[in-house]
Amino acid sequence: MTTVFVPPGPRGHPVLGSIREIQRDNVSAFMHAFRHHGDIVNFRGPLRINLLAHPDHVQHVLRDQHKHYPRPRKVQGCLSTIVGDGLVAAEGGSWLRSRRLTQPAFHRDILRRFGETFTRTTSGMLDDWERRRGQGRPLDIKSEMMHLSLANLARALFKSDLTDAIARIEPAVQGALSFTHRRMTSPVDPLRIPSKARGRFRDALGTINSVLYPMIVARRREGGEDDLVSMLIDAKDPGSGEAFTDEQIRDEVSGFFVAGHETVSTALTWTWYLLSLNPESRRRVQDEVDRTLSGRVPTVDDLPKLAYTTMVLQEAMRLYPPIFVYMRCAARDDEIGGYRVPAGRWVVVCPYVTHRHPEFWDNPEGFEPERFTTENSEGRHRMAYLPFGAGPRKCIGDSFAMLQMPLVVAMVAQRFRLDLVEGQRVFPEPAISLRPRDPMWMWLRPVEEGSR
Ligand code: HEM
Repeated sequence: MTTVFVPPGPRGHPVLGSIREIQRDNVSAFMHAFRHHGDIVNFRGPLRINLLAHPDHVQHVLRDQHKHYPRPRKVQGCLSTIVGDGLVAAEGGSWLRSRRLTQPAFHRDILRRFGETFTRTTSGMLDDWERRRGQGRPLDIKSEMMHLSLANLARALFKSDLTDAIARIEPAVQGALSFTHRRMTSPVDPLRIPSKARGRFRDALGTINSVLYPMIVARRREGGEDDLVSMLIDAKDPGSGEAFTDEQIRDEVSGFFVAGHETVSTALTWTWYLLSLNPESRRRVQDEVDRTLSGRVPTVDDLPKLAYTTMVLQEAMRLYPPIFVYMRCAARDDEIGGYRVPAGRWVVVCPYVTHRHPEFWDNPEGFEPERFTTENSEGRHRMAYLPFGAGPRKCIGDSFAMLQMPLVVAMVAQRFRLDLVEGQRVFPEPAISLRPRDPMWMWLRPVEEGSR
């Protein structure tokens, strides 16, 4: 076989290559490039990257050859400013140690205990919606889902009254994440330049520390609670018997806020958007919820029966994968799909593109939750659908999310129908997650017999 050295790709600007298009809207730039150039695309310019769209190539990088494809140093460095050497940013031996110590706390059987935490928080939100409905104004669902997912995460981590902590940590996590996004996408690191934004970023880190640290120390002193932080305090490395220090728990917990807050809220927000555009699917969710629950609060035991609701969430994450790029860097020369990938080249997996690959998905732009039935999923390439990533660095919180989100959707559907405010235009914004750019205004309609 002959090796073609450079994969095809856009010509771009003679000096800047495609950097401006990528900075403006990387998801659209990647989708456009895939449509024009195929499964592996070379972007020229100062940011030399190869986009991989084909599931075989994704598998090569994320799973089969993962040791030779660590995260780029720049990405790792930006993340570690927030999460230290925690799981989200660590590489090599310290990543493996973190993963071994945290993994047991995220086992599905352990997470089942948080079902009631999730339903209690969701009930509180719905009671509040009931009160606000009388005001005759639509609701910004994006911000409602943000508050909800943060409250659910914080309560699973610390199981105590956290109203005050949540109010402080939410803007701090948001601020830290947007500045980190700017750092990752700017040619010159804004952390090196004195500015108000840098000052706010440092304040946000200070707030995250000042909220989390005392709570971890108190939890270690008092002990006893049935929550994720207590499990991390008790965790021991099976090989060395070593445990986490308080600083390391702080790093892990801030990583969970970075990775597990906006991702969940974004997935839920897109789900409401898509259901509002697809009334037949929304009716099926409501029928399933009524049939399964007959008006009672769901428990984790109901989840297998909420199969259609779960498929709706899967389909929402196919069309709008909350994490829409996984960055890696070739540690040595390699060959992918007949093309040479030199050491040092950034390699990008974009699930937004792979999830729309026409060889693996019929009607890729259409909203069709039924594609996730067992029958319809049979024979599909394992790497054609990867909202939670793949390989050893696959999301540790996937079960956490897939337990929480169907419970939330079922509970909302029991009480309300959400209708997108007419004439509203919705644009995906590829920031840290692929979120709607603007507030998402929706009308709340109470679900009564015959109102579906
Ligand atoms: C819909 C919700 C979620 C989505 C779509 C999602 C997606 C992802 C993806 C794609 C990765 C891998 C990124 C890569 O390979 O570069 C990842 C990693 C991670 N996620 Fe999630 N995530 C979600 C929820 C959560 C939750 C709820 C938590 C924690 C409570 C969490 C914690 C983590 C952590 C710690 C990592 C790093 C794992 C490692 O590097 O070993 N995620 N997530």
